[in-house]
Amino acid sequence: MALWGGRFEEGVDDFTQRFGASLPVDKHMYAEDIAGSRAHAKMLAAQGIISAEDQQKIDAGLEGILHDIEAGNFTFDINDEDIHMAVEAELTRRIGSAGARLHTGRSRNDQVITDTRLLAKELCAQIMKGNVALRHALVDQAVAHPHVVMPGYTHMQHAQPVLFSHHLLAYFWMFSRDFARLQFALDQADENPLGSAALAGTTYPLDRQMTTRELGFARPTANSLDAVSNRDFLLDLDYACAVSMMHLSRLAEEVILWSTQEFAFITLSDSYSTGSSIMPQKKNPDFAELIRGKSGRVYGDLVALLTTMKGLPLAYNKDMQEDKEGVIDAAHTLVDSMRCMAGMIATATIHPDAMMESARKGHMAATDVADYLAKKGMPFRDAHAVVGHLVLECEKRGCSLDDLTLADFKKESDLFEDDITGALDLPAIVDARTTEGGTGASAVAEQLKKVEARLSADEAALSA
Ligand code: ARG
Repeated sequence: MALWGGRFEEGVDDFTQRFGASLPVDKHMYAEDIAGSRAHAKMLAAQGIISAEDQQKIDAGLEGILHDIEAGNFTFDINDEDIHMAVEAELTRRIGSAGARLHTGRSRNDQVITDTRLLAKELCAQIMKGNVALRHALVDQAVAHPHVVMPGYTHMQHAQPVLFSHHLLAYFWMFSRDFARLQFALDQADENPLGSAALAGTTYPLDRQMTTRELGFARPTANSLDAVSNRDFLLDLDYACAVSMMHLSRLAEEVILWSTQEFAFITLSDSYSTGSSIMPQKKNPDFAELIRGKSGRVYGDLVALLTTMKGLPLAYNKDMQEDKEGVIDAAHTLVDSMRCMAGMIATATIHPDAMMESARKGHMAATDVADYLAKKGMPFRDAHAVVGHLVLECEKRGCSLDDLTLADFKKESDLFEDDITGALDLPAIVDARTTEGGTGASAVAEQLKKVEARLSADEAALSA
């Protein structure tokens, strides 16, 4: 009979027992569950609710169980329903009535959410570490290739030349915002619900500040009903994971494009590629594709929990048991995807010549030629039309703007002089974009200072 079996005459049917059990998922929270119980027992003893002797037995018993689980010497029994019942039942088997006093002033409703909050904090910390490692990989490649020019795109059409380093650093900032979202999710998880009991608090004189300190939470929750019903912090974590997977997916897409024959901007290392079982020549960017694909399941984890929570009345409802599997999946998927992406970026070979060759196509100097005329007094709209004409001429001749002679330019406007060559040189075009946050080498050097500052701040936050 289950620990709650007193008012029942029959046990639960075998199949429904398994259907209702969360043990296969929440057994992974054994360490959190045991930590929560040890803190609770310590506080019960400090408040004189249980004896010091019972507390010592409980603490030693729980430590023994922890040890056995970690050593692989613990067999979980699905009849225990969840990790809370499994640990408590085993404790009582081991130490007798002292074990049966552990649940004084506590419910599985505040217990499960205490464990889940501890788990969420740990998952956030793991993801944040992976996030910093990935950003290091991006920055290292950016720093290693400071002057490489590549085509910048809008609508997947050549737009204006940019520095490859600037392109990589764009991703750095995306992942930096993900880090901030994870910090928020971590802060949301950082509240101690223990002491809320089933839904209403309890008649025992619990010291919630003490368990808050013992478990390393920032503060106790303020409302017992909200405390046992709240899964928002998991949604915050799921959302942070979903956005970060979206960023990874975008980067993966570029990596895939860049390693095509058509682009050939990069070559992936063999250790981040696969072959084909039939075509001997193939080298496929499987892992980038997999990362792109895995974004789907992480979005699914977010939507699944949103949907589970929708329409739930206060306070605890069993529906909420569905909360943990998705968030664990989202977090692990993201950690693995970031690790894979960091390695893929770090080991990729960059082909500056291919990028430059591509950048020469598509008349990417056009804006700068228009700016050249505008700076000499022509209204920008008119300059745009003049250069549009020149581009049309190039298209007809099958050449590029820098193949035109000064006479060709002068035919469209006599503002053109010898110095027009400056507006046609791709590295010069890039370097002229000195606006704060722009792609010019000097602006990117300034940006790198912000990048370093951001990385150090985030690393400091991680080790705090
Ligand atoms: N296994 C449950 C869960 O994961 C624990 C809380 C159950 N509480 C209850 N009253 N049935 O949500």
